[in-house]
Amino acid sequence: MDDERPTPARFTGRVVVVTGSATGIGAAIADRFATEGARVACLDNNATENRATVARIADSGGDAFELHCDVRSADSQRAAFAAVIERGGRIDILVACAGIFAGSAITDIPLDRWRDIEATNLTGVLISNQLAAPHLMAQGGGSIINIASMAAKTSWVKSAEYSATKSGVIGITRSVAMDLGPHGITVNAVCPGNTLTAMVRNVAGQVGGELGMTADEWLAMRADDTALKRLAEPWEIAGVVAFLASDDARYLTGQSIEVDGGLILS
Ligand SMILES: NC(=O)c1ccc[n+]([C@@H]2O[C@H](COP(=O)([O-])OP(=O)(O)OC[C@H]3O[C@@H](n4cnc5c(N)ncnc54)[C@H](O)[C@@H]3O)[C@@H](O)[C@H]2O)c1
Repeated sequence: MDDERPTPARFTGRVVVVTGSATGIGAAIADRFATEGARVACLDNNATENRATVARIADSGGDAFELHCDVRSADSQRAAFAAVIERGGRIDILVACAGIFAGSAITDIPLDRWRDIEATNLTGVLISNQLAAPHLMAQGGGSIINIASMAAKTSWVKSAEYSATKSGVIGITRSVAMDLGPHGITVNAVCPGNTLTAMVRNVAGQVGGELGMTADEWLAMRADDTALKRLAEPWEIAGVVAFLASDDARYLTGQSIEVDGGLILS
């Protein structure tokens, strides 16, 4: 591999909306698109961390702006997308990344927590797709990438609510790909394996605890379950998202791509 090769600016002139841009994978995705020349609209409900994402991008010469958005609320998303059009003039690419984790035994899932994770991970993604679609259609093309999870493709104990929402994201993706394909729009899902973010440390504490393991022991076990024997870094997920939004992936739609270091093989 040639590490000296410059990253091509594949997204110059494009406006990219990233939900969940404040931390973790979403922040890495915002960074990646900005590095490749895009103007990035960063939508998140964590204003402090979202400002930090935008400041980091600006410091390295990129173009990004932050908008407060709670993806659980249609009104909040509608206002944020309207502000993107006002400030960016167009939308070429949507990355619906905002998400939360919750896991309990099926006998113990509190319904209010189910409604919250469903509103964030599933309805939130549906609304983002719904709001981006008319702009992409008006331009005659574009890309949507929804962030699902390997939790939709494999099973863990005590995570029915998370798995259900992420399986739903794959379902939305396949169907929206059919709806928008005739308009030249590709719609794909990315299913990360365990990726080193605040969320995965939280999952490690919860799920590891259920199995009588420390968070570090659970993370080491998850790394060992992969073919590559390590967990992902957020930028490794961002690279695949950028590929899916690029011209190299123009004939790729309706897929849910496993970016899991070979976890599915074990
Ligand atoms: N980290 C992993 O191992 C992993 C694996 C598979 C999938 N994922 C998925 O990747 C995405 C990003 O996760 P992450 O690991 O970077 O976690 P993270 O907690 O670092 O990032 C989640 C982001 O979503 C934002 N967010 C949460 N609720 C929101 C709301 N209601 N409105 C707007 N923004 C909201 C948070 O503020 C945060 O910026 C999630 O959808 C997650 O389910 C993560």
